[in-house]
Amino acid sequence: MRNYRFGMVETIECPSRDVRERQLAAANFNTYRLDAEHVYLDLLTDSGTGPLSKEQWSAMMTADESYAGSKSFRDLETYIQETFGFDHVIPTHQGRAAEHVLFRALLEENDHVPNNTHFATTEAQIKDNDAIPVNCPIEAGRSTEHDTFKGNIDPAKVAAVIEQVGTEHVPAIMLALTNNALAGQPVSMDNIKTTRDLADQHDRYFIIDACRYVENAYFIQHHEDGQQHRELPAIAKEQLQHADIITMSGKKNGLVNMGGFVALDDDELAEAIKEQTMLHEGFYTYGGMSGRTMEAFRIGLQEALTPRFIEQRVEQTQDLGQLLEDRGIPLYKPVSGHAVYINASAFLDHLDVDDHPAEALAAAFYLEGGIRTSPDGTLPYDDSHDALLRLCLPPRTYHRDHLEDIAETAATLLEDSNQIPGLEITKEPDHESLAPFQRSYHPRSL
Ligand SMILES: Cc1ncc(COP(=O)(O)O)c(C=O)c1O
Repeated sequence: MRNYRFGMVETIECPSRDVRERQLAAANFNTYRLDAEHVYLDLLTDSGTGPLSKEQWSAMMTADESYAGSKSFRDLETYIQETFGFDHVIPTHQGRAAEHVLFRALLEENDHVPNNTHFATTEAQIKDNDAIPVNCPIEAGRSTEHDTFKGNIDPAKVAAVIEQVGTEHVPAIMLALTNNALAGQPVSMDNIKTTRDLADQHDRYFIIDACRYVENAYFIQHHEDGQQHRELPAIAKEQLQHADIITMSGKKNGLVNMGGFVALDDDELAEAIKEQTMLHEGFYTYGGMSGRTMEAFRIGLQEALTPRFIEQRVEQTQDLGQLLEDRGIPLYKPVSGHAVYINASAFLDHLDVDDHPAEALAAAFYLEGGIRTSPDGTLPYDDSHDALLRLCLPPRTYHRDHLEDIAETAATLLEDSNQIPGLEITKEPDHESLAPFQRSYHPRSL
């Protein structure tokens, strides 16, 4: 049962096949480069693409747009301090900006930063500081079959990095909740505590990327031994309390179109981050956000941390997974809380990894149904060839009918999957980590 109703109507339509063909060619077969007006169902991302609630719109009407120390900032700050449990809250305009100001203040050349898996922006920001991001996913994450907490970090891999480069070159250990770069898989409370212990053992910072911390708490509550009796907000808060520093893109579990922050207790580091914020974002009591955005952000954080929001969010994603599985679509399992990841290599098993199966399948989804999806690269293991296609559901946006359309399109594609051509790269951008967003492709002949 859905316990909300839609309060605003947005008309969408599926462009004709002819338009889709022309637009895909104009976008150089890279679905990131399509204009949204030519897309019917947009599953590119859940990042800032959902609608606001009545409560968010009302709060925006009374926002304080003062440059320094606005009430809208103070209210957001107080909410984050009380809910996340940190002294300092430094606002930024989005998640990568939080990573930017933190890493500028924290990292030195050749530092190594282990993580369960670095999301593309995190990886790019670390490299931009001439430091080295290291992925340390557990081996169970390789398998596309069902298992719990495949987003965990492998403590032995982290210890090996520290051993190899020396503690002084590993300023922090990170965890992304959930692990978006590994099929959105959750991290267990046990693994969060182990990471805390490891950071303590070496006297290093422990950073949590809290983008989807509520979805992560949902999975802990439903699947981790000894957690079922606990309230969701208590689990959500405990996860974050194990960290020294939080970065967050408000565009995910803040339910806003723009926004982010860094939160921490360390006074000295907070001052250094504030300086970076003033250089790159704006004064450290707005950090690139308007008062209106900060109002919507505070209410969005509250709304996301309710069982009624998160249960419907995760259940809708699971429903899409089930509809696809019923039609024989090969998925990465289990299905995450925000997106369904299709195993594009298995779907297009006539293609090689060099034929870019995920990008080829994304192009086919658009051509067949006007549906935009996002290629998610191969699994984060040096020798993995399994490429995933992410079908990401913006929160509070689509109906069950839309999910059925998506599943039907997938089924049609599967029937003639060997007629879907691979893609070759025709233009490569300079910044390697950001390449998926900008590359140009051309279809190979079959
Ligand atoms: C896990 C994770 N970290 C960081 C980011 C970056 O956030 P933003 O897009 O707000 O810069 C994202 C965005 O998708 C993400 O999924």
